[in-house]
Amino acid sequence: MKKILITGATGNAGCSLIGFLCRLSIEYQVFAGVRDIGRAKKIFAKYQDLQFRNFDFENRETFEEVFVNVDTVFLLRPPHISDTETYFRPLLTTMRAQGVKEVLFLSVQGAEKSKIIPHNKIEKLILDFGFKYIFLRPSYFMQNLTTTLLADIQKYRKIILPAGKAKFNWVDVENIGESAAYLLANFKECSNKSIELTGNENLNFYEVVDQLNQYTDNKIDYVSPNIISFYRLKRKQGMRKGMIMVMIMLHFLPRFQNEPKISNFYEQIFGKEPTRLWQFIEREKAIFEKPKED
Ligand SMILES: NC(=O)c1ccc[n+]([C@@H]2O[C@H](COP(=O)([O-])OP(=O)(O)OC[C@H]3O[C@@H](n4cnc5c(N)ncnc54)[C@H](OP(=O)(O)O)[C@@H]3O)[C@@H](O)[C@H]2O)c1
Repeated sequence: MKKILITGATGNAGCSLIGFLCRLSIEYQVFAGVRDIGRAKKIFAKYQDLQFRNFDFENRETFEEVFVNVDTVFLLRPPHISDTETYFRPLLTTMRAQGVKEVLFLSVQGAEKSKIIPHNKIEKLILDFGFKYIFLRPSYFMQNLTTTLLADIQKYRKIILPAGKAKFNWVDVENIGESAAYLLANFKECSNKSIELTGNENLNFYEVVDQLNQYTDNKIDYVSPNIISFYRLKRKQGMRKGMIMVMIMLHFLPRFQNEPKISNFYEQIFGKEPTRLWQFIEREKAIFEKPKED
């Protein structure tokens, strides 16, 4: 039986992927590679066949055991890890030594064009190591609204980003989990390909708050400060310097780039439209309201 290890299992994409994989009736054994097995067991309590292995990107002592008898790895880069030589080269070296053959890497749309982002370097490493690969390159997650951007929405009723009128392509992580499960189940047919995964809409943040305001009682505004004010504000809120730089890179640079390309991969595979932003907002609308005072 083929054995698949999922890294980042407890995150946005990993959680969704595990849900879809465990619902597919395929003859695979799925392992979640996690830092805290007790916590992960609670999160995934309904998936009886899911197994767990201890894994920490930042602790090389966990590398060998986690890949024993594993054929295929779903690999992601946790957002705070950007030094590929320190973390990913040793990891891929161990993966190869342990006999892993296939890697599905969660990359990002445009990774091939930007030499400074870690995904570009990780893709190159995977190629150098000679794994069979699939690079899944999604666009901007709708779930950023319910994770990274949520505190400002709930507390200040604002989205604060230096993104101006730049358009982002919005993709639902559920569509990513579903696509990744399909790709893992059909690895042979899809191997050695780079696949862009997008939604069907390019929208700027003014358009996004318009949509949000159709589903929320308390109005949300979009504010686009200059990058220095943004940096100061986020430092004041306690965000780490590295994370602020990532936020600036992700949201400021698109102002000077072309609109993202829209891919038809999801529709071709599943015969249906990817999630529209309004559908995501309707599904998640409760979370955008102010948290109740204690
Ligand atoms: N956000 C976007 O718009 C977007 C778009 C395209 C691509 N991406 C890419 O998608 C990736 C992030 O995916 P995501 O949103 O699913 O991630 P996420 O929700 O931020 O979750 C990160 C996952 O990594 C795990 N993790 C963190 N540090 C770890 C460590 N030291 N050892 C083991 N596991 C660790 C976390 O586990 P714990 O539960 O233990 O913390 C969690 O499961 C990034 O590479 C990002 O660049 C994001």
